[in-house]
Amino acid sequence: KKIVLAYSGGLDTSIIIPWLKENYDGAEIVGICTNVGQDEDWDGMEKKALASGASKLYIRDIREEFARDFLFRIVRAGARYEGKYLLGTSIARPLQAKCQVEVALQENANAVAHGCTGKGNDQVRFELTYKALAPQLEVIAPWRVWDISSREDAIEYAQERGIPLGNISKKNIYSRDWNIWHMSHEGGDLEDPWNRPKNEMFQLTKSPQEAPDKETEITIDFEKGFPVGIDGKRLGAVELLSRLNKLGAENGIGRADMVETRVVGMKSRGVYETPAGEILLTALAELEMMTMDFNTLSFKRKMSQQYADIVYAGKWYTTFRESMDAFMDKAYQYVTGSVRLVLYKGNVIIAGRKSPYSLYLEDLASFGESSYDHTDATGFINLYGLATGVEAMVHKRIDAE
Ligand code: ARG
Ligand code: SIN
Repeated sequence: KKIVLAYSGGLDTSIIIPWLKENYDGAEIVGICTNVGQDEDWDGMEKKALASGASKLYIRDIREEFARDFLFRIVRAGARYEGKYLLGTSIARPLQAKCQVEVALQENANAVAHGCTGKGNDQVRFELTYKALAPQLEVIAPWRVWDISSREDAIEYAQERGIPLGNISKKNIYSRDWNIWHMSHEGGDLEDPWNRPKNEMFQLTKSPQEAPDKETEITIDFEKGFPVGIDGKRLGAVELLSRLNKLGAENGIGRADMVETRVVGMKSRGVYETPAGEILLTALAELEMMTMDFNTLSFKRKMSQQYADIVYAGKWYTTFRESMDAFMDKAYQYVTGSVRLVLYKGNVIIAGRKSPYSLYLEDLASFGESSYDHTDATGFINLYGLATGVEAMVHKRIDAE
């Protein structure tokens, strides 16, 4: 038997290796670790996986694909789960699971395994992707099977088997997830939703208070709803995100604190840092107002919520998500242009926008001399208001009787 494990190098996935071997009679374990922009000891990763008992470790740098084909679609869709969460973990899982499936097929493995708990969303996202891409693979979710229930248990399990723990400590209180888009924080003192997050908890962003008392002005360039450059300079997707992350973080932008609804139904408290994401969604929302007609825009806004719900729930590889993106492809055909922003102490302030496809015509909108003929409005309102007038007349007559 051969099992391909989504390996992170952390405590949980490290102990999964010996556990799988012990519980699936000596199965061969192949690890796959994806680089989505988290800070890791990449050079030491393979050695660690092998020392934990894996026969092989694949490492895949998927940052560019992640940014371009996944994160930028979140930007275009304007997707914020429950109006706040920019989906940083939710959107990574399908791509990570896709890589895992590719390795499983290449390795002729019978099963795939992951280290998500049975309480969370991530298990759903991994497994819906397995089902969509390779439904024949067996799925093993150790957290739903074993009796290891605490961090202490897990450390003991590792020590008994000589698994290298590295800098894993007993007091790693927060459950975190990190990539080029965001860092999430859950657990620890956040479990009381009244507790204010400690300032030391934040890893990416300055607080607005610590941010410089000085404005940073930037321009973001978009093509067809996708970001392509900053201040007129074209940038690759990863480069663009890291520059915006730096600018946003420095200016205290992108923190969100919420009680969210998990797929399994429970409410859960999460705190997120998504500096570039916050800037990009705010900027694009401005550009589309100038370049998109009213009906398309209002439909798109409704779709934003659906899109967020679907991504949160792990339904990336579905006809529905693809259909929504097909709508977006058309709707954003002319959403090309630039947005001028001021970053200042946690705020993304819109300063200006321009587009070759702007539907705003200064001549038409101007309060001064223009080609607009005011007398046209008389006939227009007579017809436009016809039904309103008829209804009022009829009701008045009946009420008077
Ligand atoms: N609550 C967020 C989500 O469901 C973040 C999950 C973070 N996952 C993790 N394994 N730490 O997308
Ligand atoms: C987990 O439970 O594995 C992490 C949190 C989540 O998936 O929501």
